[in-house]
Amino acid sequence: MMKLLPRFFKLLLLSGLLLCFFKSSQWVHLWRPRKADPTQTWLEIQTQRKIILNSACLKLNLTDTVNKLKPRVAIQLYVEHNHRLIFCSIPKVGCSNWLRILLILQKNLSSELTKESINRNELLKYIHTTPLLIKLNRYPSTLQQELLSNYTKVMVTRDPFERLVSAYRNKILHGVQSFMKLIKAAFPKSSNNVTFQEFVNFILQEKLNNNHWRPMYKLCDPCRIHYDIIGKIETVNQDADHILKSIGAPEDLHYPTFKTFATEPRTNEQITAEYFGNLSSKQVEQLLKLYEFDFSLFNYSSNVKYMNLSVL
Ligand SMILES: *[C@@H]1O[C@H](CO)[C@@H](O)[C@H](O)[C@H]1NC(C)=O
Ligand SMILES: *[C@@H]1O[C@H](CO)[C@@H](O)[C@H](O)[C@H]1NC(C)=O
Ligand SMILES: *[C@@H]1O[C@H](CO)[C@@H](O)[C@H](O)[C@H]1NC(C)=O
Ligand SMILES: *[C@@H]1O[C@H](CO)[C@@H](O)[C@H](O)[C@H]1NC(C)=O
Ligand SMILES: *[C@@H]1O[C@H](CO)[C@@H](O)[C@H](O)[C@H]1NC(C)=O
Ligand SMILES: *[C@@H]1O[C@H](CO)[C@@H](O)[C@H](O)[C@H]1NC(C)=O
Repeated sequence: MMKLLPRFFKLLLLSGLLLCFFKSSQWVHLWRPRKADPTQTWLEIQTQRKIILNSACLKLNLTDTVNKLKPRVAIQLYVEHNHRLIFCSIPKVGCSNWLRILLILQKNLSSELTKESINRNELLKYIHTTPLLIKLNRYPSTLQQELLSNYTKVMVTRDPFERLVSAYRNKILHGVQSFMKLIKAAFPKSSNNVTFQEFVNFILQEKLNNNHWRPMYKLCDPCRIHYDIIGKIETVNQDADHILKSIGAPEDLHYPTFKTFATEPRTNEQITAEYFGNLSSKQVEQLLKLYEFDFSLFNYSSNVKYMNLSVL
């Protein structure tokens, strides 16, 4: 009897270990149908986005490990020290909403600031001019590198053609003076209300010399900076929730839904198609060439969608 007891315990231990092994291993999935875990799915999509990006970087020979971070890129990168976040801002890609979030995080302000009741225009003006938001270019280059390797790096993209139409609707249709002057200087004969065709000709001629229509990859340099999270405006609510969670933001902070011109519909696929229908196929081809890297790197396919709309 006394001899059998240790054996019994050994057996018990062994079966316990076996049970643990089976419980934690994939065997479980054979018995139970696998539930789609939203976080798991989101992570898988992130992995896919990065694989597509990295292989496009290699294919397009954009992987530059030799040269230093360009000042033009460092000035796009906002640094939020409390949550160890670096965010690349791209005009016309929900940029004001993200700056609002950064400001709330930085100052530990109330999440109430994402709600509609706050005077939108005043806050917008404040966000774009406040010295509270710090950009990476403010730091010496060695510290820039250190921050880039220590912090969570995030960029958010948008369909290149939707972004272009959004820039036109926002800056030209609303007659923002600085933009009108640019176009008038280049095309003195353009109509008083610059048409989308004229705007496109202007862009084709001046070769993207403005951040509002400069390709996204040039602003954020994703082939050199290995962004931890690549969000898309097309999935921004989900992406923002995961981004905020991963940096430990307050739980009640969510991506706001502000628009500068609140009564107008947001530029979407259908509106973009309407504008592109007014371009010649030559113009569309030239735009495709101009934005081809954005299409490849960020896996957008509007090049196919908007190619054959032209009636001219
Ligand atoms: C890439 O684009 C294709 C075609 O639009 C789409 O089916 C696929 O889901 C996209 N992949 C990712 C990771 O977004
Ligand atoms: C890739 O780019 C580097 C410099 O950025 C250049 O020296 C090299 O020739 C390029 N390679 C190809 C295949 O284009
Ligand atoms: C931010 O505010 C929260 C709640 O008001 C507080 O618990 C936290 O300590 C504050 N953090 C900092 C860094 O001030
Ligand atoms: C970056 O991380 C390293 C290693 O953890 C640490 O020694 C360094 O102080 C950090 N630098 C900054 C600026 O946070
Ligand atoms: C330009 O647009 C304004 C306001 O949208 C309109 O009142 C005006 O008639 C337009 N002018 C031309 C020349 O189309
Ligand atoms: C397309 O062109 C027509 C004719 O010039 C014009 O009436 C219409 O407003 C244009 N549509 C867009 C979305 O620019």
